[in-house]
Amino acid sequence: MSYAFSRQTDPHVDLSSLDAFNEGAPFATFDRMRREDPMAWSDMASGETGFWSVTRHADLLELNRQADLLSSARGIRMEDQSPEEVEARKTFQETDAPHHRGFRALVSKAFSKSTVAQFEDQIRKIVTELLDVALAEGEFDAVDRIARRLPMQMLAQIMGVPQEDGPWLVEKGDALISNADPDYTNFVVDQLDSDAYRMLPFRSPAAVDLFDYANGLLDRMDAGEQIGVLNLCREPTSSGAQMSRDEFRNFFCLLVAAGNDTTRYSISATIHALANDPALLGQLQRGEIASWEAAADEMIRYASPTTHFRRTAMRDFTFHDRQVREGDKVLLWFLSGNRDETAIADPYRIDLMRQRNPFLAFGQGGPHICLGMWLAKLEVAIVLQELAKRLTGIEQVADHAYLRSNFIHGIKHLPVRVRAR
Ligand code: HEM
Repeated sequence: MSYAFSRQTDPHVDLSSLDAFNEGAPFATFDRMRREDPMAWSDMASGETGFWSVTRHADLLELNRQADLLSSARGIRMEDQSPEEVEARKTFQETDAPHHRGFRALVSKAFSKSTVAQFEDQIRKIVTELLDVALAEGEFDAVDRIARRLPMQMLAQIMGVPQEDGPWLVEKGDALISNADPDYTNFVVDQLDSDAYRMLPFRSPAAVDLFDYANGLLDRMDAGEQIGVLNLCREPTSSGAQMSRDEFRNFFCLLVAAGNDTTRYSISATIHALANDPALLGQLQRGEIASWEAAADEMIRYASPTTHFRRTAMRDFTFHDRQVREGDKVLLWFLSGNRDETAIADPYRIDLMRQRNPFLAFGQGGPHICLGMWLAKLEVAIVLQELAKRLTGIEQVADHAYLRSNFIHGIKHLPVRVRAR
């Protein structure tokens, strides 16, 4: 029996609803929007101000690079935020040039391709240990056993924090970014009065705990201790710029949120694909792939874990005959761009030999292109390599479940049975 990656076939799903992705991504809705209404207006079911949706690949590329027209500094999520909330919850992701460029220069070395490549052996060791346990069980939840554990264990190593703190960081990262799913937080954003927390990242009290934790790290670094790549982030640049304590705390929170479940859902989508399309495992094993990096890219394109990021119009403009007003929210649906057949041939098929793959899962083309991209790609590539080495078969044995969120898209439970060497 085969289990579809998405069970949602309705072409008119309300994208403003936190339940919009409960049955998987509403791909049929995005297909229709790209075809019929490429700059579509949606009202918010919650009564908040509505938003524009950009869904075509070419439009996403064109608008994402115009940061002077579409700002990140007034919020990057769909929800309304007062200027005070934006200010209090701000990380460098919610800033524009020149501040954004300056801050990014402080942290880019710590997450560059060459820095991350030095962690390859550690990533492989974590993956091998996770697979040793999981494969011995024969039948298991692949998210619980593998996908949920690897990203934070790895990030903990890179950041230089104790491995034992990994599970605690996963819990806090989940509470932050999965703030609409009762499986991951007691403070479900639309079900409880989370108003008391509106000045905190993701309106979540978990941010307080992460701020405390970051303060402890800062104290240790200020006392001269070397803590993983975090020290690199606090080093002054050649122009003398340095990250403040407040900026560091927010940055740490952002890393824990951004580095946690995006990679997890890329891995859960990868394992879902292997379990439901037996040809893929053989292709990996016979080396019928463009390269391991390209195979990881293809899986991340297919997974599309971050559905969208929001911008705000800085002035009036017309796009596809629609009049956008200064202050309007404009959502860049990267997930939709990743299924646009005008840019990606046969986009619903996983093609490990794909030569041209201009996917947008990392926000490619814009100044905010994912900082953790090289780490995420390497993790997914190593998971693919190790699974290919050790599995002789894998199948899904019961239905999977999806995260409740219209911001992060992914499979949160995936029951599989494996045969391993
Ligand atoms: C497959 C996994 C991942 C996906 C799909 C993903 C996706 C994205 C996307 C789409 C953006 C652009 C946001 C925008 O345009 O406003 C972004 C930015 C960012 N990501 Fe990732 N991400 C992933 C993994 C990671 C990891 C592992 C980390 C941390 C180590 C990370 C840290 C960040 C940060 C800090 C930014 C903000 C960059 C900036 O504003 O300049 N991400 N990510």
